[in-house]
Amino acid sequence: MDALITGAGGFVGNYLVQELLHYHAHVGATKLPKEYIKCKNCDILDMDLTKEYEVRKILELYKPAQIYHLAAQSSVAVSWTDPELTIDVNMKGTLHLLNAVRSIENYTPRILLVGSSEEYGYLKNTCPVNEQETLHPANIYAVTKACQNMIGNIYAKAYGMDVLMVRAFNHIGVGQSPTFVASDFVLQIAEIEAGLRAPLMRVGNLEAKRDFSDVRDIVRAYRLLMQNGHTGETYNVGSGSAVSIQELLSILLGLSTESIIVEQDAAKMRPAEIACIQADIQKLQAHTGWKPEFALEETLQTMLYHERRNFGIL
Ligand code: GDD
Repeated sequence: MDALITGAGGFVGNYLVQELLHYHAHVGATKLPKEYIKCKNCDILDMDLTKEYEVRKILELYKPAQIYHLAAQSSVAVSWTDPELTIDVNMKGTLHLLNAVRSIENYTPRILLVGSSEEYGYLKNTCPVNEQETLHPANIYAVTKACQNMIGNIYAKAYGMDVLMVRAFNHIGVGQSPTFVASDFVLQIAEIEAGLRAPLMRVGNLEAKRDFSDVRDIVRAYRLLMQNGHTGETYNVGSGSAVSIQELLSILLGLSTESIIVEQDAAKMRPAEIACIQADIQKLQAHTGWKPEFALEETLQTMLYHERRNFGIL
């Protein structure tokens, strides 16, 4: 097998599968039994990362040359309500993967561990942030991804494994769960336009600034890093610019056919929040030549178009 994607049943995985199929003959995609992957030309495999024997069985059977490790509990919001699951999947799951690789004789795949910009945590006047910045994770999700990064680093150095790490900044696109801000706002607008909800949008903190990319740009960066990234190194993957959630909301409201009132919902505010998260992407660009191809407005427009179609209003 040329490449295996763990957690391919999630939002990003579906895009990464399509990206890799342009370049590789044999792509594998693991998912949880309840998940669905749209892919005719790849091996779809059920694998629960929390079960070490399942991970080992698949690696022994297919020995993929490249492993894109996406599988994770990826919601910051869910990590506040289910910290234990977040730790089990994101930390122990990564250990299961790395230990399974180590246990197989004469097997040295290249492994890309997907982490998060959340690892940086409380940043004081470091917007944009580069990979050298000290980590101050501010929630359990962020802690688990920071640990994953450190574990990857240790396995690369101590055991000579070909592991590299990314810190992905916010990425959005069609198919993302409405637990994330852009999909949440897009869904609310489509429901309003379809007459299923009053013209009132509920929002959380609009002051936070985040670095949003189109998921298609993000998966292209992962592929390029797998090709050209350096072992044991960490790379920021983001657009390199930050917008406030208010700006994101304004773009979407400008695209809507309805006049919508915005109301803050206390339930959508987080117990702790980082003011600005923006990527310094000099290292990514120097090592891969990657550049974003999709503008934020274009991505939001595409998301709204698809949601309107889902509601039969196009
Ligand atoms: N979800 C949501 N819903 N967020 C809102 C809302 C709302 O109605 N209103 C404002 N926000 C704010 C959140 O408080 C946060 O500051 C920002 O919008 C982005 O929230 P999310 O889209 O939920 O993403 P996230 O930043 O918490 O986490 C995502 O990005 C990380 C990278 O920075 C996830 O994709 C993580 O997996 C990823 O690591």
